[in-house]
Amino acid sequence: MSKHSWWQTGVIYQTYPRSFQDTSGNGIGDLPGIASRLDYLADTLGIDAIWISPFYPSPMADFGYDVADYTGVDPLFGTMDDFEDLLNGVHARGMKLIIDWVPNHSSDEHRWFVESRSSRDNPKRDWYVWRDPKPDGSPPNNWLSAFGGPAWSFDEHTGQYYLCTFTKKQADLNWRNPEVQEAMFDDLSFWLDRGVDGIRVDVAHFVMKDPLLRDNPPVTGTPATLARNHGDYDRYEHLYDKGHPDNHPLYRDVRALLDSYRPERFSIGEIHIADWEEWAGYYGNLDELHLPFNFSLVHCPWTPDDIGRRVAAAEEAIPEGGWPSYVLGNHDDPRIATRFGEEHMPIAAMLLLTLRGVPTLYYGDELAIPQRFIPAEQQLDPHGRSLSGSGRDGCRTPMQWDNSFHAGFSPKGAASPWLPLTDDWPDRNVAKHLENPRSLLNLYRALLAYRKTSAVLQSGDYRRVDAPAGCLAYTRDGGALTIALNFTDTELDVGFSGNVAVTTYLDGDAAPARLRPHEGLIIEN
Ligand code: NOJ
Repeated sequence: MSKHSWWQTGVIYQTYPRSFQDTSGNGIGDLPGIASRLDYLADTLGIDAIWISPFYPSPMADFGYDVADYTGVDPLFGTMDDFEDLLNGVHARGMKLIIDWVPNHSSDEHRWFVESRSSRDNPKRDWYVWRDPKPDGSPPNNWLSAFGGPAWSFDEHTGQYYLCTFTKKQADLNWRNPEVQEAMFDDLSFWLDRGVDGIRVDVAHFVMKDPLLRDNPPVTGTPATLARNHGDYDRYEHLYDKGHPDNHPLYRDVRALLDSYRPERFSIGEIHIADWEEWAGYYGNLDELHLPFNFSLVHCPWTPDDIGRRVAAAEEAIPEGGWPSYVLGNHDDPRIATRFGEEHMPIAAMLLLTLRGVPTLYYGDELAIPQRFIPAEQQLDPHGRSLSGSGRDGCRTPMQWDNSFHAGFSPKGAASPWLPLTDDWPDRNVAKHLENPRSLLNLYRALLAYRKTSAVLQSGDYRRVDAPAGCLAYTRDGGALTIALNFTDTELDVGFSGNVAVTTYLDGDAAPARLRPHEGLIIEN
């Protein structure tokens, strides 16, 4: 038996529930839809764990990241029985289920906030961050919303502002009040008691704020950011509204809660921090988050040196015994096929699945679904509407399954999908890709299958090795495997020797000493 946990050796696949599979016919994906595709995930693809973005009751101001009840299922997505069926189906196939936990803010329609805003002396008033206006009536400090405008919303009824780091319908919880922690932990236990295997923690480093709510200073020089453009928000050093040191005791408590369960429960935190040391702080002494997401490759220039440097920096920063993680795409960033160019998708797949650590795949990237352009005025995404060019609808289009009605996303006769499909869906879908032995989907399958049986890829060390310009090469497990990736559109003499185990061309013509254009190789030494 492996000495490593499932979350160390496994591969995570993110489903955005609105966009994966609609079974009710309303044009919006649902939990029975995900359940109906478990064979695809377990057998066709071969992933180990599914992360589902929020499916809780929600007014959907931020498509579920505005939670109105942490212990329910939104009727749009199904029922609690549907959730149980999904969980059982996942477990029956030997996979794990990771749910999204959104601790920073609740919906303004959550009963806690409804009570909190009802009067200044309501017992839940202090569950959220309320402050008086400045004497001129303006917000209490200069903090901005990540989606544009001030991070404060004025409540006429009680004459105070509440803090809302995202939309006005997402009110920041006050985690300095112990009752909040207790209530949130109770609600989290609700899911852990039901057997979910792990949590993805939404904006994990935002949760604790400066108790004095000091103004953020303006950025001097080039802002260090790992995230996509956030407009004016990027003009401030977010010293006081995120990354507060008091997050660390909180995650130690979260970890203690998770660790009180058997079998083991897992956590992966959404942490966008450009400073490696600060980012790695979220491992704690391996007693905080199991993994902070490492987003450094999402916004990395797509060159061997930039990638190599970031991997080296991550390897260096991670504490002894800590485990790396990598991700290329998600529901917040433009699709990788459009960012890197489709010809780079095979090496992107090989990179993600051969680095040391846990890869997270984003639904549809196995087909190279492109970013769909949706103009700002048509964006449903609140960020897309507030800041032109930042819309996230384009990376959330429906999964493309086959050539049938709405690409198999919805049942026949259903309403139009909530977002349009990408134009090339008749050729770019799972059924078509499966027919083509050299498709990207078949490459993902080959890589996942290889990884599943390779202890070297699952846990061997990583070392970058010399290679000609245009090639990124590294070994795993002291040289047991060499991975060589050609980022150029010409052949490259790389001079490696050994047995080619996988070529991104999925043919029999690969040679370890010479890479074809955009070819990637796993070479057994
Ligand atoms: C990060 C999530 O990934 C994003 O989709 C959401 O809008 C914000 N957190 C707010 O919850």
